[in-house]
Amino acid sequence: MKLWGGRFAEDTDALVLKYTASISFDERLWPYDIRGSIAHARMLADCGIISAAEGRQIIEGLESLAADIEAGEVTFALDDEDIHMNIERLLTERIGAVAGKLHTARSRNDQVALDMHMFVRDAVSSIADGVKELQAALIRQAENHLGVIVPGFTHLQRAQPILLSHHFLAYVWMLERDKARLSFLGEQVDRMPLGAGALAGTTFPIDRQQVANELEFSSIYENSLDAVSDRDYLLDLLYSVSTIMTHLSRLSEELILWSTEEFGWVELADQYATGSSMMPQKKNPDVPELIRGKSGRVFGHLVGMLTVLKGLPLAYNKDLQEDKEGVFDAIDTVLPALKLMAGTISTMRIREGRLTDAFARDFSNATDLADYLVRKGIPFRQAHAIVGQLVQLAILQGTNLSGLDLGMMQAAAGVIEEDVYELLKPESVVAARQSRGGTAPSAVRLQLALAREQCGVE
Ligand code: ARG
Repeated sequence: MKLWGGRFAEDTDALVLKYTASISFDERLWPYDIRGSIAHARMLADCGIISAAEGRQIIEGLESLAADIEAGEVTFALDDEDIHMNIERLLTERIGAVAGKLHTARSRNDQVALDMHMFVRDAVSSIADGVKELQAALIRQAENHLGVIVPGFTHLQRAQPILLSHHFLAYVWMLERDKARLSFLGEQVDRMPLGAGALAGTTFPIDRQQVANELEFSSIYENSLDAVSDRDYLLDLLYSVSTIMTHLSRLSEELILWSTEEFGWVELADQYATGSSMMPQKKNPDVPELIRGKSGRVFGHLVGMLTVLKGLPLAYNKDLQEDKEGVFDAIDTVLPALKLMAGTISTMRIREGRLTDAFARDFSNATDLADYLVRKGIPFRQAHAIVGQLVQLAILQGTNLSGLDLGMMQAAAGVIEEDVYELLKPESVVAARQSRGGTAPSAVRLQLALAREQCGVE
């Protein structure tokens, strides 16, 4: 018989049972469900709602059940619908009718809310650890390649040379904002819903603060309707994870480009690349491609959750059971993605030789020539036009700006002197950008130190 079977004369239709059950995916909540039940039982006993002996029996029963589940000796039943009723049933088998007292002053509505809060609280800290690990990998690469200059792009057209370290550090700051979002989420989820009952509170003299203390929540929901209906913390989680996946996806895209023969900036380590079953020469960046691809499902879960919530009247509705699979999948997607990206970054080889050649034919020093003319008193707009003509001339001659002889440059602007050739070198171009947050080695070294300090990475 169902735990709620009293008012029913007929059995549930098999398809209805299967359709409404959540045990296939909420079984992973069992450690939280048991821990929450233990705190609830202790509180019921301390408040005199059940006897001390009953409290002890229930708590010991739950602890031995937890040990057996942990040991893989327990199977959950579809007939019991969800993790909460499965655990109550198993407890009853163990300790008898006294198990029926556990659900005093509690509903599955506040129970599932509590379980999800505890689950998300743990997930947040694992995700933050993963983010930090990736930051550490990027910081290490930035430090080990401080001398490497690469073309920087706008519109994916060469713009100005930058330090590769500067590029890596840009991701470190993005990830630092991800950590800030996670810590906001940590505050949102740090609120204890149990004691809301089904929706309106309870007639028993419970002590919600005691449960909050035992489960290490810093506050409790002040409105029982809100406590059982709130899924905002799941939106915060899905948005935070979506943003992380966006960042990982952008980085993935760059690694995919950089490891092409056309770019040739990096080579992925063998352990982090895959081959082709047909083309023997292939070394494919499957991991970044899948990270890029899997970002889609996470964004889908965010939109899915928003959609589940948008028309829901207060308080609990079964629609809310749809809050779980997307959240679980988002977490199961982001954790390995962070780990694999950290591994990919730390093991890839930077092809420094290829990078030194990168500037032989480009015009990424054109801004610097214009700035040079400005320093000689020519208005920037005019300097821009002069350099534009020199670029056009160099293209016609099959060279770049440093390939033009001094006479030609002087014909365009008489103020140009021999020192221009030194200024046009990529090293000079980079070194000249000493503004705070700029790409000069001195500025990047400062940035690196700040990043280490703010990200808590040694
Ligand atoms: N499995 C349910 C869920 O995940 C638990 C709460 C069920 N409450 C109810 N009144 N049917 O939402």
